[in-house]
Amino acid sequence: MGIGYLEKEGLFRLTAGDAEYVIGIADGKYVGHVYFGRQIGDNRCGCLMRTEEAPFVPSKNLREKCSFADAFPAEYSTWGVGDYRDSCLNVRNEEGFRGCELHYEGCRILEGKPELPGLPATFCGEGEKGAGMTLELDCRDKVLGLKVTLRYSVFADSEAVIRSASLVNEGEKSLYLERALSACMDMDMEEGELLTLAGSWARERHMVRRPLAFGKQLVSSFRGESGHQDHPFLAVMGRNAGQDQGEVWAMHFVYSGNFVAEAEVSQFGSVRLLMGIHPEGFEWVLKPGETFVTPEVVCVYSDEGLGKMSRIFHDLYRGHLIRSPYLHRKRPILINNWEATYFDFDTEKLLEIAREAKQRGIEMLVMDDGWFGDRNIDEGSLGDWEVNEKKLPGGLSYLAEQVRALGMEFGIWFEPEMVSPDSKLYRARPDWAIQIPGREPVQSRAQYVLDLSRPEVVDYVYESVAGILRSAPISYVKWDMNRQMTDVGSACLGRERQGELFHRYVMGVYELQERLTREFPELLLENCASGGARFDPGMLYYSPQIWCSDDTDAVERLAIQEGTALLYPLSTMGAHVSACPNHIVGRVTPFRTRGHVAMAGTFGYELDITKLTEEEKRQVEEQVKMYHRFQPLVREGDYYRIASWGENHKYDCWQVVSKDKREALMTYVQVLAEPNWHSRKLRLKGLDPEAEYWLEEIGPEADRQAREGKTMTGKVYKGAFLMYGGLLVPRMEGDFMSKMIHFTRM
Ligand code: DGJ
Repeated sequence: MGIGYLEKEGLFRLTAGDAEYVIGIADGKYVGHVYFGRQIGDNRCGCLMRTEEAPFVPSKNLREKCSFADAFPAEYSTWGVGDYRDSCLNVRNEEGFRGCELHYEGCRILEGKPELPGLPATFCGEGEKGAGMTLELDCRDKVLGLKVTLRYSVFADSEAVIRSASLVNEGEKSLYLERALSACMDMDMEEGELLTLAGSWARERHMVRRPLAFGKQLVSSFRGESGHQDHPFLAVMGRNAGQDQGEVWAMHFVYSGNFVAEAEVSQFGSVRLLMGIHPEGFEWVLKPGETFVTPEVVCVYSDEGLGKMSRIFHDLYRGHLIRSPYLHRKRPILINNWEATYFDFDTEKLLEIAREAKQRGIEMLVMDDGWFGDRNIDEGSLGDWEVNEKKLPGGLSYLAEQVRALGMEFGIWFEPEMVSPDSKLYRARPDWAIQIPGREPVQSRAQYVLDLSRPEVVDYVYESVAGILRSAPISYVKWDMNRQMTDVGSACLGRERQGELFHRYVMGVYELQERLTREFPELLLENCASGGARFDPGMLYYSPQIWCSDDTDAVERLAIQEGTALLYPLSTMGAHVSACPNHIVGRVTPFRTRGHVAMAGTFGYELDITKLTEEEKRQVEEQVKMYHRFQPLVREGDYYRIASWGENHKYDCWQVVSKDKREALMTYVQVLAEPNWHSRKLRLKGLDPEAEYWLEEIGPEADRQAREGKTMTGKVYKGAFLMYGGLLVPRMEGDFMSKMIHFTRM
């Protein structure tokens, strides 16, 4: 890792692992993108900005400044001064004029990485001197009195480059930020592919690849959350790039609200990547002396396809983003009552589930929606966080104590950001809901969103949650958020500042979770938003795990978890075994397969265990054992994708390898059985080619087969054999069958 300033050449070189990011100053003023790729280490690379080619730089050819601006590879593009591609920054002044031109003024190279006030951000790690470095480039628009500092950080153990920008009004009049994105990267690229993640409720983060084409292609959200539909991520892939080969440039946004992620192919065969807060509905008033800090963007380059890109993201998030003490701890296996009972439960029913769960080795009971106010369907009481003593006589402390007396931990569900029209809170404070005066607010799941731009609302919400946590021994909170925003108006923000509401709301959520994790440092927090609508790096800063999707069907989960694991470590993905027929798709899959798929996440159960058959309960015990054995590997290991059901429509396969390559675990799901078929050859990845590995097929079924000599257990192969030759996995009888194979280095 390093950051160097080559004054003579006007270049800044950041190195991170095998990657190099080079920024140049053109014409003494303009901050341009030179290069992001495999290290080249050549100080002459400034020519890649092409400023020596026609139409030259403005100081030599002022009459063609517009052509310069429209072709220049900007690091932070601005609106209205000759660059017609989409920009990061657009500013209006008090007189109503728009436009901004930034000129470079100076730089600082810092040890470590500054925090971003109020925002989630990657960090070096406590007391780790030399773990990271930051480059700050100061630029100014003298006409506006606006100072912009572009920030770039690198870490000693990562290949990622982290970017953000600070905008300071150093003038005497107000400025109005109409666009304030976080990063721009202009690269030469005539052909390639764009990769994004897309979906819907219950089918989040499916991978979508499409050819890069002239013009703008974007994914975005102005729903107030990152959303089910799009994900704040994009990658451009070079020709022939795939899982393990080819070049990939990716950007991921550390933010949980509105975003835009855009690729714009220009007339000159270059592509501009942009990422930041969505400008739709956004306007920020910057009074003299005020600063606006943009959330950060993680930029990753991989020369070994998507696999290496994923591993860079995983290591970065585990090493430099997730702060929870649970990051490297085994998470308790939980059982959640949502799919077991929905709203129809009471203390006795929950304890019945807990008793059976405890017997089978499950470690925590989580009580989901419906324990407060008068909430027996999803139509009321949000905001009234008082225990419903009709369902829970003796209150929460009684229930929690009973659960703890069984030797289990107790967790609880909240949806703190919401209010039901039918609630005491709404009747008392209708102005606390986000809405537009005179317009009937749009209901979604019969609820409104609380105005978290108001400090008194944040305080109320905080005390509601913290008060409950103080009242009983609660180890875990599932923090849910079940609607997107409409009628975006605040009764409190003035006329000028309504455009700040979306962002102020997100900052309110961050403040709440910051306070919560400070007061309850041992709390295990799991974020959730109607399943996985707020699965983003911003939320990971507060919670080490996020509920992946309301779709717990093992087959649907293959695509959801593949898309999620493209960026997030497996230890962050909330994954549970649920009952069949599955409540979302009605599919029936073997209990074993459901276990194998959920084992690639945080692992738990989402069913009424008292209703399982004896054989299923026995399998729960087996799964609990497997979890204890393999969880450290799944949590800390390197992830490799072997095959994708989304691509081949037949089978899925992934693998986790320990960092020291001493062990590996492969999960194979034969989604559809095929006739007249013998075995499938699967090539493993990431092993030590010279080492010998001992194979073990996992599970009681496998043990039985082993006694009959039918499994691979006991066989020994060289790493090279397994990776280059491959492993023959016999056909299994039936659809939705799965296998887990463990490899131990001898
Ligand atoms: C949506 C979540 O994703 C579910 O798991 C459940 O908690 C419900 N909300 C409860 O309303």
